[in-house]
Amino acid sequence: MAGPAAAVVAVLVLAAAHGALSESSHVDFAGAVARGRTRSAPAPSSSWHGGNSTAPALEGCGCEPTPPPWRFLNEKLRSLYPVIQAFKQTITCDPLGVTATWTGTELCDSFFNGTTYYKGFYCDYPPDAPGVLTVASIDFNGFGLCAPSLAGFIDAFPDLALFHANSNNFSGDVPDLTHLQYFYELDLSNNNFSGAFPDSVVPLGGLLFLDLRFNRYAGTVPAPVFALTVEALFLNNNGFGGRIPDTFGSTGAQYLVVANNQFTGPIPRSIYNTSATLSEVLFLNNRLSGCLPYEVGLVEGLAVFDAGGNEITGPIPLSFGCLRDVEELNLASNQLYGQVPDVLCLLARNGKLGNLSLSENFFHSVGHHCMELVRSRVLDVRRNCILGFPDQRPPLECAAFYADPTKHCPFIPHIPCDLPGYKPPHPHAAAEDAAPAHGHPHQGQGGGN
Ligand SMILES: *[C@@H]1O[C@H](CO)[C@@H](O)[C@H](O)[C@H]1NC(C)=O
Ligand SMILES: *[C@@H]1O[C@H](CO)[C@@H](O)[C@H](O)[C@H]1NC(C)=O
Ligand SMILES: *[C@@H]1O[C@H](CO)[C@@H](O)[C@H](O)[C@H]1NC(C)=O
Ligand SMILES: *[C@@H]1O[C@H](CO)[C@@H](O)[C@H](O)[C@H]1NC(C)=O
Ligand SMILES: *[C@@H]1O[C@H](CO)[C@@H](O)[C@H](O)[C@H]1NC(C)=O
Ligand SMILES: *[C@@H]1O[C@H](CO)[C@@H](O)[C@H](O)[C@H]1NC(C)=O
Repeated sequence: MAGPAAAVVAVLVLAAAHGALSESSHVDFAGAVARGRTRSAPAPSSSWHGGNSTAPALEGCGCEPTPPPWRFLNEKLRSLYPVIQAFKQTITCDPLGVTATWTGTELCDSFFNGTTYYKGFYCDYPPDAPGVLTVASIDFNGFGLCAPSLAGFIDAFPDLALFHANSNNFSGDVPDLTHLQYFYELDLSNNNFSGAFPDSVVPLGGLLFLDLRFNRYAGTVPAPVFALTVEALFLNNNGFGGRIPDTFGSTGAQYLVVANNQFTGPIPRSIYNTSATLSEVLFLNNRLSGCLPYEVGLVEGLAVFDAGGNEITGPIPLSFGCLRDVEELNLASNQLYGQVPDVLCLLARNGKLGNLSLSENFFHSVGHHCMELVRSRVLDVRRNCILGFPDQRPPLECAAFYADPTKHCPFIPHIPCDLPGYKPPHPHAAAEDAAPAHGHPHQGQGGGN
C-alpha cells in the first residue's frame, strides 16, 4: 500500500485496535437482525442462470439486453438490475475489471461455474420482507473505480444498510439517502470528493458510521454533524476549516477524528458532555488555538487524546489527572507552558498512561513524578524550556515566549475527581508553580477560555 492508503491504515489501526471499525460487508440491519456475513444467493438453479441462455451482448454499447423478469429471483432484485447496469455505464475507470462481473441476473456477489458475479453486491433478507433476498450492502473497498456521481445509484437500493467505498475515485454529490430505512454505514474514504461538506448525510438519523477521510472536502463542518447518532466519525485528511462547532459536545461518537484539516479556534469546552461515550479523539495537525480546556479532564473514558501539532496554549489543567483510562496523550508541538502537572504523570503509575508526548512546547518544569517517566521514555519533553534538561529550546526563545503578555489562560487548581494518596498543592502555590521565572502569563482563576 502506498500514499494515502498507508495513512488510512495507520488511523484504522488506532481505531480498529479498539474494535471500532467494521470494514466488512456484514449487515446487521441496525441490530434488528443478527446474522453472519451477508449471504450470497441460494445455489444457482438452472431456471434462472443459463439453460435458456443469455443472448450475446449488444455490440457498441457494451450493455446486455435486459433479461426477462422471470429470470430474477424476485421483483426486488429485478428492479435493481437496471440501476446497476446504468451505474456501470458511468464508470470511467475500473483497474481491477470489477464491473465485468456485473452481468446476468445473479445480483448477489457469488461464485459458480468458475465465474464471479456482481462483485461488491451483497444480499440479505430485510426485516420487513424476511423471505425476499435483496441487496443489503455494497462493498467496493479498494476497487479503484472512477465515477462522476453516486446519485441515482446508492439511493436506488431501498434496503441498503451499508455502502463502503474506501479507495475509489468517486466524486460529485452524495445523494439523499433519507428514504433508505436501514441505512447505517457510509464509508467514502480515500476518494475524489470535493466541495462543501455533503449536507445530505446530516439528516441520516440511523447512521452509526460515517467516514469521509482522505477526500478534498473544504469549508466548515455543519453543526448538526456532531448531533448525528454515529459511533465513529472520521473527517480527517480533508481541507475542512473554521471553528469546530460547539455542538461538538452532543456527539455520541466513541471514535472521533478531525485530524489533518485546517480547523481553527479552540477545542470546544462542550467536550465535557461526551464523557459517557468518547474514547478516542484526534485533533492533531490543525490550526486550533485558545486554552487547553479544563473540561477535557471530565471525559472519563478517554483512552486516546491527541491534539498535537496545533497552536493551543495554556497550562495543562490539573483535571487531566482524572483521565484514568488514558493510554496516549499527545500535546506535542503546541504553545503550552507552565509545569507538567504531577497528577498527570501519576497516571502512568495509577492509570494506563503509556505515552505522554509534550515535546515542542514551552513547559518550564515537570512535576516530581514526571522525572521517572522522562527516564523511562513514556514522557517526551524535548524542545521545551526546562532548565537542566537536554535538548531544550534556546533560552532566548523561551524568554521571548514568556514575555509575551497575550497569553492568559486560567489556571484552575480544582481536581474534579478523587485521587487517593494525592495531596493537591496549595492553590496559591500551584499558581506560582505554573508561572514562569521571567515573564507573567496572567494566571486568572476559574474563568473561561
Ligand atoms: C455451468 O457450466 C456448465 C459447463 O460449462 C454448463 O453446462 C452449465 O449450464 C453451467 N451452469 C450454469 C448455471 O451456468
Ligand atoms: C427460453 O425461455 C422462453 C420463455 O420461457 C421459452 O419460450 C423458450 O422456449 C426458451 N428457449 C429455450 C432454448 O429453452
Ligand atoms: C484516483 O485517480 C488518480 C488519478 O488517476 C490516481 O492517481 C489515484 O491513485 C486514484 N485513486 C484511487 C484510490 O484509485
Ligand atoms: C476528480 O474529480 C474532479 C472534479 O472534482 C474531476 O475533474 C476528476 O476527473 C476526478 N478524477 C478522477 C480520477 O476521477
Ligand atoms: C449534550 O449532549 C446531548 C446529547 O447527548 C445534547 O442533547 C445536548 O445538547 C448536549 N449539550 C451540550 C452543552 O453540548
Ligand atoms: C508516542 O506518541 C507520539 C505522538 O503520537 C508518537 O509520535 C510516538 O511514536 C509514540 N511513542 C511510542 C513509543 O509509541
